[in-house]
Amino acid sequence: MHTGSGTDGDGGGAGGALEAELERLQTVERFDPPPGFARRQPYAADVAAAAADPLAFWAGKARELLTWQKPFTRVLDDANPPFYKWFDDGELNVSANCLDRHVAAGLGGRVAYHWHGEEGERRAVTYSELLADTQRLANGLRSLGVVPGDVVGIYLPMIPEVAVAMLACARIGAVHNVVFGGFAPSAVRERMEVSDAKVLITVDGARRKGRTAAVKAGVDAELGDLPKLEHVVVVRSTGPVGGAETVMTAGRDVWYHELLAAADPLCPPVPLSAEHPLFILYSSGSTAKPKGILHTTGGYLLGATYTHRTVFDIDPETDVYWCSADVGWITGHSYIVYGPLSNAVTSVMYEGAPDYPDYDIWWRLIAEYKVTVFYTAPTAIRACIKWGARYPERHDLSSLRLLGSVGEPINPKAWLWYHQVIGGGRCPIVDTWWQTETGSILISPIPGVTSTKPGSATTPLPGISPALLSEDGEPVTEGTGVLVITSPWPSMLRTLYRDDERFVQTYFSRFGPRTYVVGDAARLDADGYFWIIGRIDDVINVSGHRLSTAEVESAIVAHEAVAEAAVVAQSDEDTGQAIVAFVTLRGELVGDDAMVSQLRDHVAHRIGKLARPRRIIWADDLPKTRSGKIMRRLLRDVAEGRELGDVTTLRDPAVMSALAAKVATAP
Ligand code: WT7
Repeated sequence: MHTGSGTDGDGGGAGGALEAELERLQTVERFDPPPGFARRQPYAADVAAAAADPLAFWAGKARELLTWQKPFTRVLDDANPPFYKWFDDGELNVSANCLDRHVAAGLGGRVAYHWHGEEGERRAVTYSELLADTQRLANGLRSLGVVPGDVVGIYLPMIPEVAVAMLACARIGAVHNVVFGGFAPSAVRERMEVSDAKVLITVDGARRKGRTAAVKAGVDAELGDLPKLEHVVVVRSTGPVGGAETVMTAGRDVWYHELLAAADPLCPPVPLSAEHPLFILYSSGSTAKPKGILHTTGGYLLGATYTHRTVFDIDPETDVYWCSADVGWITGHSYIVYGPLSNAVTSVMYEGAPDYPDYDIWWRLIAEYKVTVFYTAPTAIRACIKWGARYPERHDLSSLRLLGSVGEPINPKAWLWYHQVIGGGRCPIVDTWWQTETGSILISPIPGVTSTKPGSATTPLPGISPALLSEDGEPVTEGTGVLVITSPWPSMLRTLYRDDERFVQTYFSRFGPRTYVVGDAARLDADGYFWIIGRIDDVINVSGHRLSTAEVESAIVAHEAVAEAAVVAQSDEDTGQAIVAFVTLRGELVGDDAMVSQLRDHVAHRIGKLARPRRIIWADDLPKTRSGKIMRRLLRDVAEGRELGDVTTLRDPAVMSALAAKVATAP
């Protein structure tokens, strides 16, 4: 069915003209808001209010945008930084804000998700239906013994049940811990184990590009013996996988549909303190141990709701919104589930991959559902450029009015193609900078207001105060520096789950307890625009997904053939960064093609496919300082084919020339 996979980015016949236009646009430094862009959200008042009094601004937004069961009287408690509390004497329920209040307002019949399956199946899920299922599942979870504060794991593909699962937890005060469906069951095990999850909600099988993975069987193999995990709830999504019926363990496993059928249909939303934990999301840090980033109820929901509405200029009456991320990442939490539902918008939810059944599936969906706002990642745009403009050109994309980008810096070439080919030159692009830790977007253009410069996330949102500091903590007003946020914001992480010390150490030790250290370097230009450069820690950004060098290294050295490994990032045209592993094998073992695929499979099994090294370079020895520290900087130089930096501090400088010779001949 694929009609080609060449690099004909010019899109065939009309290509010459497009190519010429893209060439011309490369000289344009600044794109002013399109004159025809009709804004739907008031914005200027927010800027003024936040500048005058940030706390009053946030309090006003919290009252305006959220429905409280008990109004708050305190806005921010900053007595014990960096442990900030927002709206903490107020009570609310996230699921009531996402569902009940809309149904009560007569919007129950509105479609929350147009779900589109990989084989073309369509399911329209209304707000009323979502509310009904959420209540039943909430009662079902209670019947399994889940009480407020308990952790519930969620390991599901992109099906509507994933939203129901999250909302059901929120309804009864359980803390969800979603693991991206692309992670391996052993990564799920680790995340369930360290969070003491009581229940895991998963699926029989998951489809990906025409194949079905036996998810429940994988879960059983890896998690069967977790002592704290009392129940596994299984969504029947694909039916038997490869002819095999899903095995259910009596007393532990329960079918999702049976749990719902047996449950009471009514479950009033539990009023929860604004600081009640809503979810944990594990993300990669500088060590092999993932960080359990904890978000709470009121501040998080305010951040997701306000920014979704403002940055995407949402009109819930008319917009059809689509974020192509996976729910397993923070982007999915904030901009597929909580932000859009809290704003009562209609979204598209797509189960599959961008290249199946063909390279035009995204554009087909945009045309079919008349999507107005589309949010995706630079890596996806670069893939589309490779596949060629003729795929989007087959479809009517005129419903689009606004485009978004997230996950990594967007290179100007991808920005211009997105602008021209997908946006028809008329849609503003919002390049949104944020992180799992920030909970919601912090730096982004405002469509119709901010002039954009391709590659820059532009300026902070109202109430957000980013700054650049030099290595020794001096403010940088123009130039490059370390990105920090100088005052708290409602949707910030509250801590790392059960690890306050690591929380303080990671984010608030370098410049004191009131300065949040982002982990990115950035440049500030003369117009006050932020240009994110990238991570300054040992975090690798592969296709907008965060991985730690240490995590991949520890997976590799767990293989019996491996003596030592060092992992670095190499810049990559498609994925932004790619993983390069330098590996020393044990004894007389030889690194051949079979060993390469063994190691890659091994990493896929331990972490997930996205963590597989792009290149494995066999090293007799690794460059180490006299104290034994591996010098990754030198390995990056080798991987990217640069002149070697200073090697005089090495214990054995000859190691580097040997490696460089190897790399020159490696594929
Ligand atoms: C890191 C956060 C936020 C959801 C997706 C990733 C990088 C994110 C941008 C952007 C340049 C970006 C940063 C950040 N990043 N968005 N628009 N421009 N860089 O979330 O896994 O927590 O990763 O992604 O390096 O620190 P995450």
